[in-house]
Amino acid sequence: MEYRRLGRTGLKVSELCLGTMTFGWTSDEKNAYQVFDTAFKAGINFIDTADVYSRWAPNNPGGVAETYIGNWLNTSRKTRDQIVLATKVRGRMWDGPNGDGLSRVHIIKAAEDSLRRLHTDYIDLYQCHAPDDTTPLEETLRALDDLVRAGKVRYIGLSNYPAWQVEKSLWISDKYSLASVVSIQPHYNLVWRAEFERELMPLCEAEGIGVIPYSPLQGGFLTGKYRKGQPMPHGARGEGNERMTRFVNDDRNMKLLDEMQTIATMYNKSIAQVAIAWMLSNPTITSPIIGANTASQLGDLLSVIGFRLSVEEKKLLDELTAWQLTQ
Ligand SMILES: NC(=O)c1ccc[n+]([C@@H]2O[C@H](COP(=O)([O-])OP(=O)(O)OC[C@H]3O[C@@H](n4cnc5c(N)ncnc54)[C@H](OP(=O)(O)O)[C@@H]3O)[C@@H](O)[C@H]2O)c1
Repeated sequence: MEYRRLGRTGLKVSELCLGTMTFGWTSDEKNAYQVFDTAFKAGINFIDTADVYSRWAPNNPGGVAETYIGNWLNTSRKTRDQIVLATKVRGRMWDGPNGDGLSRVHIIKAAEDSLRRLHTDYIDLYQCHAPDDTTPLEETLRALDDLVRAGKVRYIGLSNYPAWQVEKSLWISDKYSLASVVSIQPHYNLVWRAEFERELMPLCEAEGIGVIPYSPLQGGFLTGKYRKGQPMPHGARGEGNERMTRFVNDDRNMKLLDEMQTIATMYNKSIAQVAIAWMLSNPTITSPIIGANTASQLGDLLSVIGFRLSVEEKKLLDELTAWQLTQ
């Protein structure tokens, strides 16, 4: 496992970050522990969660993934200082007009709640999950800065922000000497390139911002298990999903999967590993956030450690998906 600096900071994170979005949704606590143990043994020291995970599961108030992490940390107390814990704030966590968003009121309470669920007294990376257009960015950054100064948060980051707002946050932090954003968390993978590559990627390169992309397999599509004309895999997240159906019905994506399969076969790897290796070959990327429902799925993904695409293979995959940048 390689460890990389998170943006310009001195913080070292593993080249793979473990996502936890499915914990409490399609993956139960026992499964989650197995996934954490497997990840930790393989050298992953970076875990990403959010207070809202997994609020979209039926009758779920949110906070479940954080609770699982906290319980796991409790049973392996010694490992807290070995883990870089990233969580997020923004989603609805309680009733009423201030139960979501990025106001000072919401952020301070949400952070205290996350700390309690995570059984820890500090969060390594506290991220705004998405912009809140009803709160001035300055208010949000001041609240985050207070958490940093209080020792409850080490670093701050943004997720799902457009480039102009990331840049604006840097100006505000600079002007008022507030803690600055050190990383962004964009949606990015081989079949979802434009959103990150058009403006965010050059911004991150210019400003030295760390990049921890989410959904590197596009929710499972880039494992190759969804194929045109074939029934969708039963019980998988994309089953019956409209967006997944669109990906499957696009012949350009099917050609991509065929080429990825050829590369995978050559190295005795899986299509998913090729998808992650493509991302790791981009020096702007710090650490893709991988999602696994089970320890065996994670085991497959971990085999990407030490595997790199050749320059020609990367170029081929770039070219096969370049059409996205011209749409
Ligand atoms: N900031 C944000 O707004 C945001 C949004 C989304 C995610 N995230 C973060 O990013 C993490 C990863 O996102 P993601 O789950 O969408 O990532 P992903 O890598 O695109 O999809 C992961 C899913 O692919 C399937 N899969 C994974 N490995 C597999 C294997 N070896 N064989 C077959 N299927 C496999 C599993 O789903 P099935 O078993 O159901 O097929 C798994 O849940 C999340 O956990 C979360 O921490 C952040």
